[in-house]
Amino acid sequence: MYLVRVSSLYLLPESKRALNLFIRNIAQLVTVAAHGQPTKPGLSMRDIGIIEHAGLLCLDGKIAWTGSMDALPTDIPDAVPEFDASGKVVLPGFVDSHTHMMFAGHRAHEFALRARGATYQEIAAQGGGILSTIGHVRKASKKELKRATARYLTEMMRHGTTTVEIKSGYGLDMDSEIRMLEAIGELRQEEMMTVVSTFIGAHAVPPEFRGNKEGYVRLIIDTMIPYVGKRKLAAFCDVFCEHGYFEPEESERILAAGKTWGMRAKVHADELHASGGAELAARVGAVSADHLEHVTDRGIDELRAAGVVGTLLPGVSFFLNHGYAPARRLIDGGAAVALASDFNPGSCMSFSMPLMMTIACTQMHMTPEEAITAATLHGAAALGLSAEIGSIEQGKRADLIVADVPDYRFLAYHFGTNHITTVIKNGTLLEL
Ligand code: NIG
Ligand code: FE
Repeated sequence: MYLVRVSSLYLLPESKRALNLFIRNIAQLVTVAAHGQPTKPGLSMRDIGIIEHAGLLCLDGKIAWTGSMDALPTDIPDAVPEFDASGKVVLPGFVDSHTHMMFAGHRAHEFALRARGATYQEIAAQGGGILSTIGHVRKASKKELKRATARYLTEMMRHGTTTVEIKSGYGLDMDSEIRMLEAIGELRQEEMMTVVSTFIGAHAVPPEFRGNKEGYVRLIIDTMIPYVGKRKLAAFCDVFCEHGYFEPEESERILAAGKTWGMRAKVHADELHASGGAELAARVGAVSADHLEHVTDRGIDELRAAGVVGTLLPGVSFFLNHGYAPARRLIDGGAAVALASDFNPGSCMSFSMPLMMTIACTQMHMTPEEAITAATLHGAAALGLSAEIGSIEQGKRADLIVADVPDYRFLAYHFGTNHITTVIKNGTLLEL
């Protein structure tokens, strides 16, 4: 059996190698099969393609075959290592498509203030919030940023996440934004996790531009984006489109500049108010519109029509104790909904995708099946990666998780504990 210790840096070149594996006797294989489509919008999110008493063959890091143990292919090569998943559930690895997990310092004091009744906006208005983390990140070296983030990456993988998006946005000056993006790029090379990077210079207006937002917007458009684009430091360009942060008009100029440098758009949309974020995401052809707590019916229609993934972040509503996004209206209205953690020190200090699924089911009335599709295939779609990952289908990358539960619904139902016992990345069985 191949065992790769994730924390052992010297093993990493080998650990990236694609390997062969046969998984037998899977009690329930949850394939989330999309049959060549990038998403399963609307109520088709419920169809998660379960195969009972299943087998799964990975060759060269890709899924080569799935099916019933009663109908095994005859040509499985002899030398393929085997893994017995009797009594267990196998699913696609979770794709956490929205995080701000590279940060320094913490905001435990804000958590305590909120417990006493202060709101996120009040704390931000007093110089806390995003600006407080910026103060810490500006002082942190690249090595420090990487070390803190790498520890979280390992821990996230133990909880079943095999692909994660990481945003910049806690630097907000040229040097610090670039340092963050370089650190994220190095982690992509060095860590087992698949890491996707997003530039969000438009996360807040930094203190030195207070009263001169246009000056900061120009810095983003004229200096930061061309540099990030030339060096290919980010796959996506994101904006916090919100009253008091970046208005739709400013956001649109920033996203248009990102696009000219090959970065696809993402939008923090309608988080605190109905601020036109969803409509903007549809207009610019964003890959996803994220948050959506205050999305309007018109916004939902436009997202669906434009094929923009609606990424919901239930951990934020839970942690900040504000309203939840209208998941039912989105799904019943035919949209493709993803779930992500938004892991960050201010608005959601958790990276647990199963916890996000539990909150989605109990507070947003998503079904456990919808939650699984949202945490896997639609997370992949929100990163433009659903042709490669997000479901267990022939030809896709063998990023798989094994849960020691009798039924897939336990992932959301039995919350607050980690059910993931094995993670398979690129066909490689990891020791975590
Ligand atoms: O997605 N909304 C903006 N950004 C983050 C919060 C980041 C922070 O508070 O540090 C979010 O919730
Ligand atoms: Fe966010």
